[in-house]
Amino acid sequence: MMELYLDTANLAEIREIADWGILSGVTTNPSLLAKAGINVKDFMAEIASLVTGPLSLEVTAEDADTMVEQAKFLKTYGENVVIKLPLTEAGLKACGLLKKAGIPTNLTLVFSANQALLAARAGATYVSPFVGRLNDNGAAGNLLLEEIRAIFDRYQQKTKIIAASIRSPRDVTDAALFGADIATIPYGVMKKMVKHPLTDVGLAQFKADWEKSGLCL
Ligand code: G3P
Repeated sequence: MMELYLDTANLAEIREIADWGILSGVTTNPSLLAKAGINVKDFMAEIASLVTGPLSLEVTAEDADTMVEQAKFLKTYGENVVIKLPLTEAGLKACGLLKKAGIPTNLTLVFSANQALLAARAGATYVSPFVGRLNDNGAAGNLLLEEIRAIFDRYQQKTKIIAASIRSPRDVTDAALFGADIATIPYGVMKKMVKHPLTDVGLAQFKADWEKSGLCL
């Protein structure tokens, strides 16, 4: 079954969703950390007890050597840390070097099947196609997921596909239908996934009938 990650650096959001017992991991990026206004060190100190699954932290350097240096530093924060690298020439090089060092990687900002192919060849543990940003630009995020799935399956490639840049509950359904291994989901979308108007109507009806009945459990 497709795994569900939370795409946030907000600790309150992680705490709340972790309580549901459905969370397999967390992804962050520099924008999400900036939005949450938290240093990686403080974030990691809090999150250790909440999430034991893979936790993506992104490098900010633009050259491979500094990316590797940052990755090795970030990895000291936890056994479950996965290093997010941008899909650039330097990112591919850093990915290969980190693979040799036994450090798992998540190649991010992936917008084409060829970028995913390159990431896989470089030894990426995960690739993150950004379905929402593609859809925003008139392309089809789903079709990209489908292409990457077909290519990886054809060559028994073990790199996992994380559907990222999720905008709606429907994007999550599509990620599962089009073969993503994982969907990384913003808090608001995760909350919406639980809701259905007929669930609320049904629950209100059960409550009313029960109260009228005078019975007890
Ligand atoms: O994890 C990164 C990705 O999910 C970003 O999403 O909404 O900024 O396109 P978004």
